[in-house]
Amino acid sequence: MDPNIKTVIAELDGRIAKERERMSSGGSFNPDDFALAAGPHSAGLLNLLIRTSNAQSIVEVGTSIGYTALWLGEAARATGGRVVGMEKIDSKHTQALDNLKRAGLDDIVEVRKGDAKEIVKAIDGPIDVAFLDAWKDDYFDYFDTLLPKMRVGGCIVADNITFPESVQELMKRYQAHVRAKPNVRSHFLSVGSGLEMSVKTGD
Ligand SMILES: C[S@@+](CC[C@H](N)C(=O)[O-])C[C@H]1O[C@@H](n2cnc3c(N)ncnc32)[C@H](O)[C@@H]1O
Repeated sequence: MDPNIKTVIAELDGRIAKERERMSSGGSFNPDDFALAAGPHSAGLLNLLIRTSNAQSIVEVGTSIGYTALWLGEAARATGGRVVGMEKIDSKHTQALDNLKRAGLDDIVEVRKGDAKEIVKAIDGPIDVAFLDAWKDDYFDYFDTLLPKMRVGGCIVADNITFPESVQELMKRYQAHVRAKPNVRSHFLSVGSGLEMSVKTGD
């Protein structure tokens, strides 16, 4: 991996580990101040998925400070693809831009600032890989908006299927929602906080 990218990822890995300690200590915290990153297992899997499918158009819904975006961008550079991320919190958007710039990936990853519900509507297809990682109640809308824009064979990967526990019931409903689509094949992957990987099988 490019040393600049590796350095920024390692720095954020340290920050994420400290955040997780604070979150698991049970005290209250403001999610707007936390990276809430998917972590290296899920981000690493997405990186491989982009590489193995030669993905050109990659979308991340909920970019926070850009941890997973670094992994997506690193793979997109290898395939000649591009990543569009989105984040509504100003300070997180600024940090994402800074982290991507320091990693030398600001020409590959664009992070749009604003409400992802509007931004996804404006994105053109065909999309090869989409990663859902914003607030969980909105996953249904994101999925339904993005599915027609996915190329056949492209996939939508949703995070937090099994963690945190507070969203598990909601995520079960999300899994039922996507698995009911006639043109989708979907499976749960026990990676990181739990991923639902949904592949578009037809128009
Ligand atoms: C779990 S974090 C994303 C972590 C990131 N995907 C990673 O793995 O590094 C979720 C982020 O989505 C953002 N978000 C939630 N709802 C949003 C919306 N409607 N529009 C834009 N950003 C949103 C939150 O501000 C938060 O920073």
